[in-house]
Amino acid sequence: MIKSEFKRRRRELMRMMGPGSIAILPTAPLLIRNRDVHHAYRPDSDFYYLTGFPEPEAVLVLIPGRKQAEYILFNRERDPKMEQWDGARAGQEGAVATYEADDAFPIGDLDDILPRMMEQCERVFYIMGCNPDLDKRLSSWLNHIRCESRSGVPGPVEIVALDHYLHEMRLFKSRSELKVMRQAARVSALAHKKVMQVCTEGVWEYQLEGTFVNACIQQGARFQAYPPIVGGGGNACVLHYIDNRDRLQDGDMLLIDAGCEIECYASDITRTYPISGVFSEPQRQLYELVLAAQEAAIKRVRPGNHWNDPHDAAVRVITRGLVKLGILKGSVPKLVREEKYKKYFPHRTGHWLGMDVHDVGDYKVDGAWRLLEPGMVLTVEPGLYIPEGTRGVAKKWWNIGIRIEDDVLVTKDGCEVLTKHVAKSVDEIESMMVG
Ligand code: GLY
Ligand code: MN
Ligand code: MN
Repeated sequence: MIKSEFKRRRRELMRMMGPGSIAILPTAPLLIRNRDVHHAYRPDSDFYYLTGFPEPEAVLVLIPGRKQAEYILFNRERDPKMEQWDGARAGQEGAVATYEADDAFPIGDLDDILPRMMEQCERVFYIMGCNPDLDKRLSSWLNHIRCESRSGVPGPVEIVALDHYLHEMRLFKSRSELKVMRQAARVSALAHKKVMQVCTEGVWEYQLEGTFVNACIQQGARFQAYPPIVGGGGNACVLHYIDNRDRLQDGDMLLIDAGCEIECYASDITRTYPISGVFSEPQRQLYELVLAAQEAAIKRVRPGNHWNDPHDAAVRVITRGLVKLGILKGSVPKLVREEKYKKYFPHRTGHWLGMDVHDVGDYKVDGAWRLLEPGMVLTVEPGLYIPEGTRGVAKKWWNIGIRIEDDVLVTKDGCEVLTKHVAKSVDEIESMMVG
């Protein structure tokens, strides 16, 4: 991401905050996996969105209009001994030189310096409840400032939800964000193709996970946006199945929901196909129904339509199709009203996509579904799941779980499917797998 992008975001946020304000935003903690082993580090999305600063133990402070420095970073000090083990640190010099902070202080000085900065401000922009340690410290600083009010220190009078402002900004993707998201989509699409080409009876689900992750890493995407879901047969009916530990059986279908992350931007793709490379008749019928629902939903992604339009379209197609196949019985409008489809299609048709796979941004505004606008990115992912033993449903439909998921950008006059390069129609899938 170009540096000017981070600067633009800080400037925009500070303009909304106005003078007399201070924003305080910590990055994510380093998490222990076991004993002295850590999980791979991933900065907090909000923090990274404003700074591009990749190290743990850092706090961003923004004070619009402050003469000495508006953008301040508290971060780790240089430490040659630690750096020999864990790699280079930016230190305060790097925070200024590389990350363009106006000023930087050691993170250990936070308690001494930050309250002094706060007491000059009327409003504190902060996200409460995400960092219990900093929440506690913030309370004690505020208490301390209150005690000092007798000596004429005015101090803050208002705590404002920073996420409200920041998440609204993150919902609309800029040109450079879309460039990264397109790249993530392309990398994941190619990785899905690789999996499709090696998927066959007898292969283990974890081996396909390995193929996917390896294909992403080979293309420079070291991290996944979420743990891959790789389920054959009935495992595909568990929505977030991540055990990926069974062997693929001939005659079953495979559902793979996987997407890489690049520069903290996610992709999120699901494909479902027969392990043998050829659809059985019941598989094809259900598959074409989910595909029709997805296509109907994607058609509804355009400016002016509201958030729930694509879901409504998918629900209508799925319900109508289930009646046609004899899985649901009754009148379609009544079945939709009574949400009878939910037994087989229990989730929503999508979510916002961005730095977080289930990205931030309100879905409703003043109680009404939000209108779609250019620059928003969402997933479209209807599904049908019929586990073994589903009562009242003929056996031929059992053990089929199908989801088809693409990442879709709202454009000026419609939408663009960012993940369109993965085979999706029955014909495309069959010729790809046989090939
Ligand atoms: N991979 C999680 C989801 O599709 O929402
Ligand atoms: Mn998704
Ligand atoms: Mn997904």
